[in-house]
Amino acid sequence: MASIAVIGTGYVGLTTGACFAHIGHDVVCADIDEAKVASLQRGEITIVEKDLDWIVAEGIASGKLSFVLGAENASRNAEFHYLCVPTPQSEDGSADLSYLQGAAAEIADVMPNGSIVVNKSTVPVGSTQVVARVLGRPDVSVVSNPEFLREGTAVEDFLNPDRVVIGSGDQEAAIRVAALYSKVRAPIMVTDPVSAETIKYASNAFLASKLSFINSIATLCEAVGADVGDVVLGMGYDSRIGSEFLRPGPGWGGSCFPKDTIALARIAEDAGFDFSFLKEVLKVNEEQFDRTAQKVLDALGGDASGRRIGCWGLTFKAGTDDLRQSPAIEVLSRLASSGAEIRAYDPAVHSNIDELPHVEVVTDPYAAIDGADVLVVLTEWDEFRWLDFDKVAELMVGQSVVDGRNLLDPAVLRRRGFQYRGIGR
Ligand code: UGA
Repeated sequence: MASIAVIGTGYVGLTTGACFAHIGHDVVCADIDEAKVASLQRGEITIVEKDLDWIVAEGIASGKLSFVLGAENASRNAEFHYLCVPTPQSEDGSADLSYLQGAAAEIADVMPNGSIVVNKSTVPVGSTQVVARVLGRPDVSVVSNPEFLREGTAVEDFLNPDRVVIGSGDQEAAIRVAALYSKVRAPIMVTDPVSAETIKYASNAFLASKLSFINSIATLCEAVGADVGDVVLGMGYDSRIGSEFLRPGPGWGGSCFPKDTIALARIAEDAGFDFSFLKEVLKVNEEQFDRTAQKVLDALGGDASGRRIGCWGLTFKAGTDDLRQSPAIEVLSRLASSGAEIRAYDPAVHSNIDELPHVEVVTDPYAAIDGADVLVVLTEWDEFRWLDFDKVAELMVGQSVVDGRNLLDPAVLRRRGFQYRGIGR
């Protein structure tokens, strides 16, 4: 079993560290946030992520997982050093590498001889070289091992991945990193670092393209009177297409897709290629936010002033408390100047949020729609399906529902007198 330092305890770092400990490695996770480290040491996790709590508790109890302040303290005795720090978007759309470079500089002098540094952060093509330069340690190999973890199912994705990608110019280092995953049943692919980094961006950008495509098909369905649910079903039987990741919605978001799609377009531009296709994918997404907001205005007869909008769902998808680049925020921001009063409920959000100063966040789904003219569903939390729609009908003033996730049953709602608007159905 190997000794692993994980630098950064965000979604990716914490999941990676806890899962490596779960499969038997000795893991020390480091962060620069003192309060966060203290709460992790007590086994307290502040993010909503399925299975992460017990897997962290198990690691702490077995002594295989611990948390320290500062990267140096984690790296001093480790053979592998996983860099899992944020790479936020900078002004020009490119990824900001300052955290990555900072982490590399911090561990450069303390790592034992023959260590391997592994990049798990999503980094621009060529960053493996950048890290190697910052480290300045010829005895240390730098390997790319991109993550494909979805928030909400990150633990499951780590332990049962579709594939493990390892990018390294040093075959021995690649084999040592591959051996870390010996308890994980998945194809392991070894390639050069630049290809590994490209696989990460291309995968996210492809999935984002799939979503912009299906959202466009949903618009087409509305125009021609087709049902996008049936269209997706019929397409999905074709194994070349598959049925996953084809749920239409109010637009796609999260901390990765928007940032990575913009970054890939930027990487292409810097390499002399105008990736116009990707720019269109991003544009279609903006239009989807507009279109969803317009559906709410249409449900109000085009004039929202003095009216009340009740919203269910704020997070960028169900199963997480993450609000970063949430489509719900995009849609509700577009309704800010409409003159409507907006109340929102989300099971993972318990107070008002800075991005939406005009929205009152309530902690009960019925309070959100009490006196509302229209209900808009923007995140696909399963619990919304099972609410008492007789009560909803009684509490609401209007009887309009805009279902931005095609989550609710239109027949059930129509039977209760609601006017139902979905996405492409
Ligand atoms: C995404 C990728 O799916 C992961 O493989 C990747 O590792 C991760 O980014 C990352 O780069 O770290 P995540 O951001 O957690 O994962 O979210 P997704 O589940 O991919 O959803 C992204 C957005 O697409 C959400 O707004 C979601 O609601 C939307 N979506 C997804 C749809 O509208 N329809 C679908 O069928 C699927």
